[in-house]
Amino acid sequence: MDRLDIIQQTIQKKKAQRYLEIGVKKGKVFLQVPARRKIAVDPNFKISFKKKKDAWLQDASNFFNKYYEMTSDDFFERYHRRLQRLDGIDVAFIDGLHRYRQSLKDVQNCLTYLSPNGVIIMHDCNPASEAEAVEVASREQAPRINSQGQKLGWSGDVWKTIVHLRSTREDLNVFVLDCDHGVGIITKGRPENKLDFTTEMIEALAYEDLVRNREQILNLKPPEYLHQFLRANS
Ligand SMILES: C[S@@+](CC[C@H](N)C(=O)[O-])C[C@H]1O[C@@H](n2cnc3c(N)ncnc32)[C@H](O)[C@@H]1O
Repeated sequence: MDRLDIIQQTIQKKKAQRYLEIGVKKGKVFLQVPARRKIAVDPNFKISFKKKKDAWLQDASNFFNKYYEMTSDDFFERYHRRLQRLDGIDVAFIDGLHRYRQSLKDVQNCLTYLSPNGVIIMHDCNPASEAEAVEVASREQAPRINSQGQKLGWSGDVWKTIVHLRSTREDLNVFVLDCDHGVGIITKGRPENKLDFTTEMIEALAYEDLVRNREQILNLKPPEYLHQFLRANS
């Protein structure tokens, strides 16, 4: 199971109409998501006109996609009225700048406009190595290959946003599916269980702390748990 499967199944089960993706790049996920109204936010899109055209032919609703070429912070600041008129985001996928503070801000902004029954899905919550979890300012500064010459993804410290939400929010249920670099699921509702880290403690956490206790820190679940979750929450 990967992020696209998770998004598609969530949209189908919840009959979601309005989808927002933060960090879209080539549109590999965005263009395939089956929602009626889709909003893409990225300061540096890499989607060619041909790719957009092919996506229209494949699914006509792609014709109405809205593209905002800017950072997520600028988007939420400049388009808050448009978002208010939208009648709620049903599914948001957060995959922009892979840093703790930024991904946290993205979650908080998405929560402001999330439908009561909406779902936030966040990529890169469970880095597999210290090199993937490196705390640098951007993808460009992260290592591209490991010592064996294998290609590396960059998940940064997005995992700390999961720790933050699980430590500070009584009104959110948060868990991470153990697949595709860790796919976080955030919904409004009572938390299954909580953590008790302060923000200072979270800032000071290191990758070894995650390794020592991934299951508990992330509320890590096997990918199949998604079905149980969607059955109970649709
Ligand atoms: C990993 S890629 C997204 C991949 C895409 N979601 C997918 O699954 O195919 C991350 C993207 O985030 C964008 N990004 C970086 N900083 C951002 C920010 N502050 N706000 C929104 N997007 C950002 C980058 O330009 C890049 O295209």
